[in-house]
Amino acid sequence: MAKILIMGGAGYIGSHTLKHLKEHGYDVLVADNLSTGHKEAVMDSLLITADLLDENALNELFSTYQIEAVVHFAAFSLVGESVSDPAKYYRNNVVGTFNLLEAMRRFGVNKIVFSSTCATYGQPHYVPMDEKHPQTPINPYGQTKLAIENMFRDYHQAYGLKYIALRYFNAAGADESALIGESHHPETHLIPLVLQAVKGERENVKIFGSDYETPDGTCLRDYIHVSDLAAAHRLALEKLDKYQGYINLGTGIPTSVLEIIKAAEKVCGKTCPIVKTERRSGDPAKLYADNTVAKNILGWQPKYTDIEAIIRTAWNWELNRRF
Ligand code: UFG
Repeated sequence: MAKILIMGGAGYIGSHTLKHLKEHGYDVLVADNLSTGHKEAVMDSLLITADLLDENALNELFSTYQIEAVVHFAAFSLVGESVSDPAKYYRNNVVGTFNLLEAMRRFGVNKIVFSSTCATYGQPHYVPMDEKHPQTPINPYGQTKLAIENMFRDYHQAYGLKYIALRYFNAAGADESALIGESHHPETHLIPLVLQAVKGERENVKIFGSDYETPDGTCLRDYIHVSDLAAAHRLALEKLDKYQGYINLGTGIPTSVLEIIKAAEKVCGKTCPIVKTERRSGDPAKLYADNTVAKNILGWQPKYTDIEAIIRTAWNWELNRRF
């Protein structure tokens, strides 16, 4: 039976997609260089340690297994780091994906679902943002993801690559089982930082800017549950023969930094120590999705539309964290 190759399946969104695909009867195989992923997140699935920059490893992977399609998560994703070390991002994200596409071409595999990002849009010209919003990324991370999106379009035209690039807004939460969840080192994302501060593992949470033109002065983001992202990858795999293109994944619901903190305090029953600080550079005031295409093309519907329900899953993971 042909397998679905999950590149970067030991990472946060990759491991949730792996679990979801297995629960829906897919035969899956994970490849990950474990630079930021965790082998525990793969649980009992087949894990091959391989790096996209290693052409021999890719040849071995594609010659050993019969692969039908690739779901590709393997990328670096820290905006700040991409500014200070862009070479790391262009090498791993762009060159790595080029190597993957070339290996796919050598072995006659022509289907890919890719984790792209709303960072390809840059500063919003309007919200909610649809897929036609201009793409002018404001950091190297977003640039690398946009370069990859463009590669797909060109490979589609020239070589018949079937692709869907999913542009995530803010991935959040954890699997209901609490066996897998978000684990970044260092952690930079708001929800885990808030929960760790509530737990007493961090002194406080810094609120980056309270003077934005938003109802409470803090930034609005679109927090989308990781299991809803996972489901969208399965639906995209099932649609690849009929549709090629780019699809936003968000709930379309804006939530402020202060609303996240209040919701977390309610879920955890404890207060979160906060410190109001300066704005973080590059942060737009408002970022949220128009998800009409995901609903119409994929038949996707987010199950988690309540921020407290999302945070509750992240909290259960924080309390049970194994890696
Ligand atoms: N924030 C704080 N304090 C913190 C961390 C974050 O106030 O300690 C605020 C940020 O300013 C922002 C919101 O919380 O307003 C969310 O910040 P995150 O760092 O959790 O997420 P981002 O919106 O910055 O990043 C997400 C993805 C990136 C993607 C980016 C696109 O995680 O991969 O959106 O803008 F590039």
